[in-house]
Amino acid sequence: MVSRVIPVDPFDLVIFGGTGDLARRKILPGLFRRFCAGQMPEGSQIIGAARSEMTSDEYREMVSEAVAEFGSGGTCEAGTLEAFLQRVSYVTTDARGDDGWVELNGKMRDDTVRAFYFSVGPSLFGDLAERLHRFGMATPESRIVVEKPFGHDLETARALNATLAQHFHETQIYRIDHYLGKETVQNLMAVRFGNMLFEPLWNSQYVDHIQITVAETVGVGGRGTYYDNSGAMRDMVQNHLMQLLCLIAMEPPAKFDPDAVRDEKLKVIRALESVDWHHIVRGQYGGGENGPSYREDVENPKSRTESFIAMKCHISNWRWAGTPFYLRTGKRLKARASEIAVVFKEAPHSIFGADAGRHRNVLAIRLQPNEGMTLDVTIKEPGPGGMRLLDVPLDMSFAEALGPEAEEAPDAYERLIMDVIRGNQTLFMRGDEVEAAWAWTDPLIEAWQARNDVPKTYDPGSSGPEDALMLMHRDGRKWREVKP
Ligand code: BG6
Repeated sequence: MVSRVIPVDPFDLVIFGGTGDLARRKILPGLFRRFCAGQMPEGSQIIGAARSEMTSDEYREMVSEAVAEFGSGGTCEAGTLEAFLQRVSYVTTDARGDDGWVELNGKMRDDTVRAFYFSVGPSLFGDLAERLHRFGMATPESRIVVEKPFGHDLETARALNATLAQHFHETQIYRIDHYLGKETVQNLMAVRFGNMLFEPLWNSQYVDHIQITVAETVGVGGRGTYYDNSGAMRDMVQNHLMQLLCLIAMEPPAKFDPDAVRDEKLKVIRALESVDWHHIVRGQYGGGENGPSYREDVENPKSRTESFIAMKCHISNWRWAGTPFYLRTGKRLKARASEIAVVFKEAPHSIFGADAGRHRNVLAIRLQPNEGMTLDVTIKEPGPGGMRLLDVPLDMSFAEALGPEAEEAPDAYERLIMDVIRGNQTLFMRGDEVEAAWAWTDPLIEAWQARNDVPKTYDPGSSGPEDALMLMHRDGRKWREVKP
């Protein structure tokens, strides 16, 4: 199979926060890989902008170290690191003052796509947007890219949207949720809407329940202050899990275009019922031999913030009424594994008698690692002795099916940055989606705060608190095992 690289026009990309962690870990190595894939045409430039005093040469040195440390992606077909670095420069720029802006503006070219990546805390978004406007840099061809946390609740998200809207039109604002850039997450749409097989069964008549698991082995060390102020609900559920839920549950959009897709996602979020507190389990990892506890990690001995959450949700619409969606995510769990499992109902009647057992088809979409899909189907257990049934997986590992191309798929950031340059907003969150997600999340958080709810402690390396297992057991169901 030949990898297809879709050409883009030359562009100017300014990274505000160009010396920060995200720029060094993700954005700059990702841009280098796109350069290597031949997707950075002559005349494109990348400008780092931050407060640190630094020359362009020093910045190039930093970029080359970042590429070496965080992944150059093997051989570079299209040129060398030096050739890439020639397109990189740096301007010392003060987001809160006017220093550097005239110089930055001087580097911009007319009639070129301009992308401004706000790789900084949200408190600077307004300052940057205002200065881009005041210094005449915000042309109709300009786009801004912003990252989560997109607000802390509905009120702050609205305020952020309003601030950006003062200077940029919604079609110029690219809100990144990096889960939407993951290959397998996009595959969800391909599987659902590219096949005849699944869609007729994709509703409460045939689907017993859906499980979405995003399990991580890492703790929150190093990001304690941010995390303790957010918790798993704000850090993962309000954005990443919500996006997965939308892609699984939405109606087929008429076209694969930005507003058609985002309109359908928005309808799902708006149809989400509020969740009864009995159906929410919050957990916090304890400590011990395996390392520090959550409270030690965040240096807050009385913290009540959750590092794990599981919940049962319902979507009130014609397609999904009666089908529960179980979501869970947490840190310091047994394995890093993200999966969506669509568990179908049992056949309405068993012709094989009680001995054969009752079985369910399960379509599991594995997001990471080992991306792939399995479909559990029921067959006869081999051998004599009557009709006993057995579930076996039809297994499709994308790495095996697609070979090296699956390995080489661009990572989420690379893909999303190129979509910004192309001007394709399909995989970015619209302002109303973000607000709707907060409107659903806020009352749940307020309710547990009002109850002074204390998260259950769970052992690091486990599957989370016992109560999360009970959430399913009470309904006669069980979580799929979290396997690496
Ligand atoms: C981030 C969260 O958005 O996503 C982190 O802030 C989390 O807490 C990360 O670890 C998970 O991303 P991935 O791509 O490793 O699944």
